[in-house]
Amino acid sequence: MFTDQPADANDGIVDAMTNQEKVDLLSGFGMWKTAGIPEHGIKPVIMTDGTYGVRYSIPQIDSDERGGMDLDAFLSVVNQRASDVAIAWGEMKPATCFPNGSAMGNSWDEALMQRLGTLLGRECRAMGVHLLLGPGINIRRTPLAGRSYEYYSEDPLVTGKLSAAVIEGIQSQGVGTSLKHFACNNSEVERTTMDSIVDERALREIYLKGFEIAIKQSNPWTIMSSYNRLNGVQASQDPWLLDDVLRKDWGFEGVVVSDWHGIKDRPASLMAGGDLDMPESPRRKADLLAALDSGAVPAATVDLSCRRMLDLIALCHKGAEGAVPAYTADEHHAEARAMAAASMVLVRNEGLLPIQPQMRRIVVVGRDAGTPVIQGSGCATTIPTMVDQPLEQLQKVLSAEQTLTFRTEADAETLELAASADLVLVYTSTEGAYDGEGSDRTTLTLGPGQDEMIAALAAVSDKVAVIIACPDAVEMPWIEKVGAVLVTFYSGQAMGGAVADVLTGAVNPSGKLSVTFPKRLTDVPGFLHYPGENGQHVYGEGIHVGYRSYDMREIEPLFPFGHGLSYTTFAYADLSLSATEIGLNDAIAVAFTVTNTGDRAGAEVAQLYLQAPGKRLKRSPQELKGFAKPLLQPGESRRIEITLKGSDLAIWDPALKRWVLEGVEARLVVGASSRAAQLTADLKLKPSVLPFRRLAYDTQPAYVLPNAIACEGICAYLTARCNISPEDAMRMLQHCSNSFFGIFTSLERRLRLSIPEAEVAHLIEEINAAMDATEARL
Ligand code: BGC
Repeated sequence: MFTDQPADANDGIVDAMTNQEKVDLLSGFGMWKTAGIPEHGIKPVIMTDGTYGVRYSIPQIDSDERGGMDLDAFLSVVNQRASDVAIAWGEMKPATCFPNGSAMGNSWDEALMQRLGTLLGRECRAMGVHLLLGPGINIRRTPLAGRSYEYYSEDPLVTGKLSAAVIEGIQSQGVGTSLKHFACNNSEVERTTMDSIVDERALREIYLKGFEIAIKQSNPWTIMSSYNRLNGVQASQDPWLLDDVLRKDWGFEGVVVSDWHGIKDRPASLMAGGDLDMPESPRRKADLLAALDSGAVPAATVDLSCRRMLDLIALCHKGAEGAVPAYTADEHHAEARAMAAASMVLVRNEGLLPIQPQMRRIVVVGRDAGTPVIQGSGCATTIPTMVDQPLEQLQKVLSAEQTLTFRTEADAETLELAASADLVLVYTSTEGAYDGEGSDRTTLTLGPGQDEMIAALAAVSDKVAVIIACPDAVEMPWIEKVGAVLVTFYSGQAMGGAVADVLTGAVNPSGKLSVTFPKRLTDVPGFLHYPGENGQHVYGEGIHVGYRSYDMREIEPLFPFGHGLSYTTFAYADLSLSATEIGLNDAIAVAFTVTNTGDRAGAEVAQLYLQAPGKRLKRSPQELKGFAKPLLQPGESRRIEITLKGSDLAIWDPALKRWVLEGVEARLVVGASSRAAQLTADLKLKPSVLPFRRLAYDTQPAYVLPNAIACEGICAYLTARCNISPEDAMRMLQHCSNSFFGIFTSLERRLRLSIPEAEVAHLIEEINAAMDATEARL
């Protein structure tokens, strides 16, 4: 990606820089900028949050001085409450508050995500921002996580694909991105110190996978290291994470930016591959300068980071050339409305919605209909350009014959009105004070009194539709008693209009849940280990995150991953595979037909799952491997084609330190959700590995005997050593089959001989090399 800047052009600049200048280049200048160094023609870069809206602080960015150097300024950003955005007026530039990550995640729509990115990029250009600090893509391991409203999904494929599209959109406008937070920052509990203890398979297959997909597909200009520790090492200072995985395995060439004040040991962070330390910290700069002057950090290391920074600065300023695309706040608001409508999820509908013309008396209950919750709290919180009032928006799209009566609570008068109404709409949300950056939610319930309010209304009317604004999953104890539920998540400034569009059917809902909704908190996969203790948070469920865990434990969720209703119906047919066997380096085409069998246009999120039994390595019952979202007119059919690569089906083998396919009979399932299979086809996975572990000194004979390569090697050794026939050697081996001891101790005891350690070591090495060679040919 940096090809337009030959490496040697920067070498000259770096060679001429003093250590102090290098430190300046690799550190923030105030809160949101990097340092300009005019002596070397180095220009500053301006960056700002966020993940679904541009958060531009006028005093912190526009001052000539180092804006936001004091810690209070930093805290005012991360502690920003969504409910207090009005207070920030005048200090912040208004920007379109698009639907938040957990809302957009339900769109399953890469084109829409790309459009979101394009619009965010445009707004950055208009404000002179070079680098937007997003998207945030941590896996939503628990719905309690304070920042889950910023993130897309519990599934790495949805996360990776959607974030890649946003990145492509933003960067298409000449604005950089910072994919964050790398890695395993999945809760706000002790967020700058917590040690996330995650096994290697869960890391590679779940928590890092989204980053891997996004980086390989969309080349974000920067990636942001996270606040937490990962398996004992501060993420911002972790050479395994920032160098071995990110750069060596995935080929990332951009800049690693720290999360704000996330570095504890600046020299260690630079040594690990952390290029840019944000925001400016005199102490950390002094530490780095001392380490450069003393040689504790080698010149080659700092120079490499400097060259990466210079590449980034060149990209940013090249991107800022040319005219800024013109747009109006109204245009972006209209697009935000369409995005919100395309992402909301109709999770239940007993024939109540859409609103029909004959529904004349409509009672609207709940404070949220007047004052909607449109976003979460923290550094992502955006100062919206305008906010739709849901009630007003609904009124606008209803006919003159339809009357809306607005009540904020379910008192006796409201219940009386509701009992005779044609429709009761309840607008509700979770309690704002507990979720957001810096604090996790404490329950999955709605705000105080809300469940009781809904239950009371449902007791007097069978025409209750509930509209829920929430950061992530919520419990719905009254679910069987209501006619419809529309989950909007935090849908941004145009939420009110978008809800009106979906309720009336002007927009046919097409969002599907990108997380599982549990019936109760105790069903959540990580429940037993959350939130950790003594500074350690063990991700005990391993690879079985989200729906993988509900499937594995056979727990019925409230709503499964991938679930969402439409006002039309769809039929699936004719699943075909271009081959029925797939190897690690192969690709096959999977095709099927989706037909709109109803009477109105609609889009359907069709999902492709792999069901592969584990062999030596355990697998979840099913894993999402592809998806598509065709928009279909009534009666229209579309042939969907999804390319599946063998490597997409692979699992990480921690023993071999690589992706492998085990040879198993698997199935592909096309579904309308993770629990609504429509079509299936058999698929054979060709093995890329032998089904045995490598031999060790203490491997028990029972585990050696099925391994022909090991048996052959050991028999050859025994034949030579004991002067017996190969058949006798094999018989000896078989006699040991139930032994408690390892293979070599067992043989020594049975044959009454001593096998020298060096010979054992040599034999093990030879056998394992033969296994390697066999696997290389698979
Ligand atoms: C957040 C980041 C954000 C940064 C700057 C940090 O506290 O974790 O997501 O980009 O602040 O606001």
